[in-house]
Amino acid sequence: MPDKISIGIIGAGLMGHSLAQLFAGQGHAVWLYDTSETMLASAPERIRKNFRTFLELGLATDEDMERCLAGITLCSRLDEAVRDAGLIIEAVNEKLPLKQQIFAEVEGYVGPETLLCTNTSAISITSIAEALKGKERFLGTHFWNPPHIVPCVEVIKSEYTSDEVFETVYRFMKQAGKRPVKVLKDVPGFLGNRMQHALWREAASLLQAGIASAEDIDTVVKCGFGLRLAFIGPLETADLAGLDLTQDVQSYLLPFLETSPFPPAVMEDRIKEGKLGVKTGEGFHQWPQDKADRIIKQRDRVLLQISRLVGE
Ligand SMILES: NC(=O)c1ccc[n+]([C@@H]2O[C@H](COP(=O)([O-])OP(=O)(O)OC[C@H]3O[C@@H](n4cnc5c(N)ncnc54)[C@H](O)[C@@H]3O)[C@@H](O)[C@H]2O)c1
Repeated sequence: MPDKISIGIIGAGLMGHSLAQLFAGQGHAVWLYDTSETMLASAPERIRKNFRTFLELGLATDEDMERCLAGITLCSRLDEAVRDAGLIIEAVNEKLPLKQQIFAEVEGYVGPETLLCTNTSAISITSIAEALKGKERFLGTHFWNPPHIVPCVEVIKSEYTSDEVFETVYRFMKQAGKRPVKVLKDVPGFLGNRMQHALWREAASLLQAGIASAEDIDTVVKCGFGLRLAFIGPLETADLAGLDLTQDVQSYLLPFLETSPFPPAVMEDRIKEGKLGVKTGEGFHQWPQDKADRIIKQRDRVLLQISRLVGE
């Protein structure tokens, strides 16, 4: 794959606009498409907003920002966004039929060499591939929000993905400055969301049982074991603690942990009351708009600084 390529991004929402920023920032030609005119038109402004944190930390200049924006072409038609692309990343809503329908349409516009990626959070890559004729050039690239900051991307092989395509996309992500990992078998939720949602299920279960407040549950993660997670993973931590000790702890503890296959009632109750989180001003916590804006801005600053520190 050449150093600089054309990349088609389908969906200009939370992930799509940030993916456009990531790749245009690396000098690739990006074609960004969305069915919503509002989302498409607001993408450049959202990218400018993202850049503010980089500018404040001295990690980018105004020229970098303008160059990045100039590398993104907004497209109101799917064919226009994908026809010249060497790589396509889909980032539309998390619905299997929608993703299948988009890729079936995309196949009609692109040549056989174009690589097709989905940014699905959890849907089986193999099940999306079923809608395609050329299943071997399709795979998962699961980025973490916000992808223009968070280094890791899970590259996921479906039952049909060819080894060559898998390796090419893995190498491309590395060249693009990401920290790709290989998910060798297509399991729902891949690596990160399986681990993340196991933690969220336990957190909600503790809240539901009245063991602690939402604030204290989050504090244990943020100021306790979560603090080390950017530097040292769970299996490394188990090695440091000793596998014999880890086995003793787990033999006693695991039977007490939450194993329900359903989202917790404590979340369903809030959803019924219209408490959806930041977007409605309340979820597990209260979210006045100024607090939400502040936290998201601080999150980006902290993530950039942690990434730099860990990189060192
Ligand atoms: N939000 C996250 O933290 C996160 C993290 C990793 C992966 N993902 C995954 O990325 C995907 C996108 O998530 P998001 O958070 O950006 O969602 P989002 O709702 O912010 O954006 C989705 C966008 O897709 C557009 N869209 C809908 N139908 C379309 C179509 N037919 N063609 C083109 N555009 C269309 C919508 O208008 C919207 O702008 C999902 O699969 C999600 O699971 C999300």
